[in-house]
Amino acid sequence: MLHIGIIGLGAIGQRLIKQFSEHPDTKVVAVCDRLESLAKETADTINHAQAYTDYQQLLENPKVDLVYVAVPPKFHHDIVLDVLKAKKHVLCEKPLANSVEEAKEMALAAKEAGVVHAMNFPLNYGQAATKFAELVNKKYTGDLRRLQLTMHFPQWPRLWQINDWVGGREQGGFVLEVGVHFIQQTLKIFGDIKNIQTRLELPEDPEKCEVGIVATAQLLDGTPILIEGLSQVAGSEYIGFTAYGSEGTLSLENWGQLRGGKLGEPLDSIGCEDVTPANLIDELVNAVNGHKAEVYDFEVGYKAQVVLDELRKG
Ligand SMILES: NC(=O)c1ccc[n+]([C@@H]2O[C@H](COP(=O)([O-])OP(=O)(O)OC[C@H]3O[C@@H](n4cnc5c(N)ncnc54)[C@H](O)[C@@H]3O)[C@@H](O)[C@H]2O)c1
Repeated sequence: MLHIGIIGLGAIGQRLIKQFSEHPDTKVVAVCDRLESLAKETADTINHAQAYTDYQQLLENPKVDLVYVAVPPKFHHDIVLDVLKAKKHVLCEKPLANSVEEAKEMALAAKEAGVVHAMNFPLNYGQAATKFAELVNKKYTGDLRRLQLTMHFPQWPRLWQINDWVGGREQGGFVLEVGVHFIQQTLKIFGDIKNIQTRLELPEDPEKCEVGIVATAQLLDGTPILIEGLSQVAGSEYIGFTAYGSEGTLSLENWGQLRGGKLGEPLDSIGCEDVTPANLIDELVNAVNGHKAEVYDFEVGYKAQVVLDELRKG
């Protein structure tokens, strides 16, 4: 049984508690949030979990084997370095850090600590994104002509994630918060990204995050990448990750839907039921047990951070 400690019990921390608790090979034994009431209330919902407000105390708990870090991005660096010092395995929320420098230090420290280090990039464990990657690799689109990421939000922050940081310029914004998932997918499926040119639309208030981005980049072979995003815009939320090719188009939409079509055809929904993606928690358990595992480690997190940093410079 892998014993889990969780630091940060907000929107996403709560989501993974459920998954860790339901998995037969993991048990949540410790939870920590600097809000005492939240730590205590959360611990009360889990059998035999210890509540902490100071994460250092959670790290001193010898029962904890793996720590899931789900605090806001600017706290990832210090907390993760302390987890590594405590020689515990670590799952870190995306983005890995709040800057490239921090991400580099964390990736290096993780390698040296000799523990399992993994990122929570859930698209890799979802059916639609897995099928998207599979079809791209099978050349469904033919030769790639363009990759496009569109992110439209009627409202940012989104209603389910209202907090004091995700709308701020320091560690929030949809480029970092949502874009990171698709940058990671791009690096995984299509390879490295070069020649990033970006133009952000920033509100006058220097504390507030971007409301728009138009960026271009290239894959190593020169294939263009277009990234465009807007918040506070009419219509519904739409996130599209689209590969345009010589023979067809394939689009991963709103995280979990796939549409595609060959030249001359409309884009139709593509079923993904035949795909069985890996499961994050199974893979963490495999990795800790020294087996082959599909985990996306801090090196992956660092590489995505390099691209994000460029995109957010505009
Ligand atoms: N993988 C995904 O799909 C996904 C989705 C949403 C958010 N996230 C990421 O998860 C992280 C958390 O996001 P969220 O929306 O849950 O944020 P949130 O603000 O809802 O929750 C963060 C929690 O961390 C606590 N916290 C902050 N500093 C702490 C400290 N030093 N010690 C203990 N607790 C501390 C806060 O009190 C809060 O309860 C961010 O990095 C975010 O980018 C990932």
